[in-house]
Amino acid sequence: MKHKLDKIVLLGAGNVATALAKALAKKHNIVQVYSRSNSSANKLAKIIKCSFTNKLSEITPDADLYIIAVTDDAVEKVASRLKLKNKKVIHTSGSIDKAVLKKISPNYGVVWPLQTFSKGSILKRKTPFVIDASTKQLASHLNELVEEMNGKPIHLNSEKKAKLHLAAVFANNFTNHLYGVAYDILKNEKIAFDVLLPLINETIEKIKEQDPRKIQTGPAIRGDKKTIKNQEAILSANPQYLELYKLLTKSIQLTTHAKKL
Ligand SMILES: NC(=O)c1ccc[n+]([C@@H]2O[C@H](COP(=O)([O-])OP(=O)(O)OC[C@H]3O[C@@H](n4cnc5c(N)ncnc54)[C@H](OP(=O)(O)O)[C@@H]3O)[C@@H](O)[C@H]2O)c1
Repeated sequence: MKHKLDKIVLLGAGNVATALAKALAKKHNIVQVYSRSNSSANKLAKIIKCSFTNKLSEITPDADLYIIAVTDDAVEKVASRLKLKNKKVIHTSGSIDKAVLKKISPNYGVVWPLQTFSKGSILKRKTPFVIDASTKQLASHLNELVEEMNGKPIHLNSEKKAKLHLAAVFANNFTNHLYGVAYDILKNEKIAFDVLLPLINETIEKIKEQDPRKIQTGPAIRGDKKTIKNQEAILSANPQYLELYKLLTKSIQLTTHAKKL
């Protein structure tokens, strides 16, 4: 039996569009890929074996669902140039409100995969997808779509989605940046980064069960002034990392669980 959202057009051919395309192509008919550059569109279209374009005016009007997976800053611009009448249209951004699509069609929404996608990433089973749709019927169709990709649907309104996205920025983007800082420090000493993996893994194991604020360790929460001074001295040659160190140390100490200095 054909799915209610059988024919799909993908607008975007980057990390998310590619992972979604591969997952969706198993049960859906991806009829067209759009990307700003012909080369990106062509590359994804070759994998999916469908037509492609780099012109929004050439978007086929007869698909069941249009998925906009372009960079956040381009979503509104791309949306403003689409003429889709009553067609179903969604974007994939955690930070952008679904309302940016409301001028295109009454059937608009967001399906945001709460995961990090880089080049070559594939969609993993049980990936949470936040759904926020303009109608109950669309929400139900999108729920089915997510389940077909073996994802876990979560229905949230725009306000809650924005807060979840903010939490995800802290939990993923910022921690990953801090892994990068650690990588840099170790690289200078010719120490391989993987020496930190047991520590990182143990932290992840602990936060599966416990409030992360209660398992905080290290010089900041202990109030070890001398260690903090020594580490600041090491970082003095790198003002950017020194500022980050001071900011994070202060933030840890301002939590209710920290010992007062
Ligand atoms: N990456 C993640 O971990 C992740 C996770 C969840 C949700 N998202 C969301 O998914 C969306 C896509 O992210 P992504 O990581 O897949 O991005 P990406 O890999 O950088 O791909 C961006 C796509 O947008 C196109 N594009 C860029 N600027 C454009 C413009 N000015 N006009 C038209 N098209 C433009 C690019 O076209 P060309 O390549 O042809 O230039 C490319 O097809 C974003 O809304 C993001 O917030 C991302």
